Amino acid sequence: MTVTAQVRPATMSSSKPSDSAKKGLFVVFEGVDGTGKSTVSRMVYEQLEAEYPGRVELTAEPTDSWLGECVRRSSAEEVTGAAEALLFVADRAEHTRQIRAWLNEGKIVLCDRYYFSTIAYQGAALKASMGAKAAVEWLKEINRPVIEHPDLTLLLTMRVDAALERLSSRGGKTKFEQLDYLRDVDVIYRALAMEEPKLHTIDASRTSVEVAKDAIRLIKNNI
Ligand code: TYD
Repeated sequence: MTVTAQVRPATMSSSKPSDSAKKGLFVVFEGVDGTGKSTVSRMVYEQLEAEYPGRVELTAEPTDSWLGECVRRSSAEEVTGAAEALLFVADRAEHTRQIRAWLNEGKIVLCDRYYFSTIAYQGAALKASMGAKAAVEWLKEINRPVIEHPDLTLLLTMRVDAALERLSSRGGKTKFEQLDYLRDVDVIYRALAMEEPKLHTIDASRTSVEVAKDAIRLIKNNI
């Protein structure tokens, strides 16, 4: 999902004088499936775009590129957890080039999932074979060279069983959408929230309008 728009000379760069290369703002939405990330990121995109016309990009991972297709295919095939993690990171490496280009143009980049998704989802998947701590460490390590650090990550949180309940109306759950697995994902996300100062949690059990309102307030504090 990529919505392309034009840049308008912005005041945003002036709020970040210490960052000479990057003029824009990089905001990531994270959360277990069913927390409403995609709906909320779309609503936030529409509201910010109305306010800052031509200055906002909405993008997502896995991407719509051929690398993103490989990632989706790996979910359907029997591949090792390590191979799957590396595919997500390959997709991200290419995506990051595009994200950096937008940021250098001074845009507000909204990204539906980024590297915390790999740490949480593949961390949970690799827990059994590697141990949770080693898995998370390895995933942070392989992401390090390919990522742009977000200025703000918004983690949508709610009870995992309630999030899954929302998904059941969509039908056909993927292998990532099982309760025990998503509980492990949620544990890693919440641990990341404790250690990452630029990661804010938002209560996603409310309506998407309320969640989007909180997200916009947090984003505007950073513009
Ligand atoms: P999702 O955001 O649900 O995309 P879509 O709505 O287009 O299907 O992402 C698809 C699944 O991929 C989701 O269950 C989370 C998983 N995922 C990972 O396991 N690791 C990652 O690094 C990313 C980006 C996603």
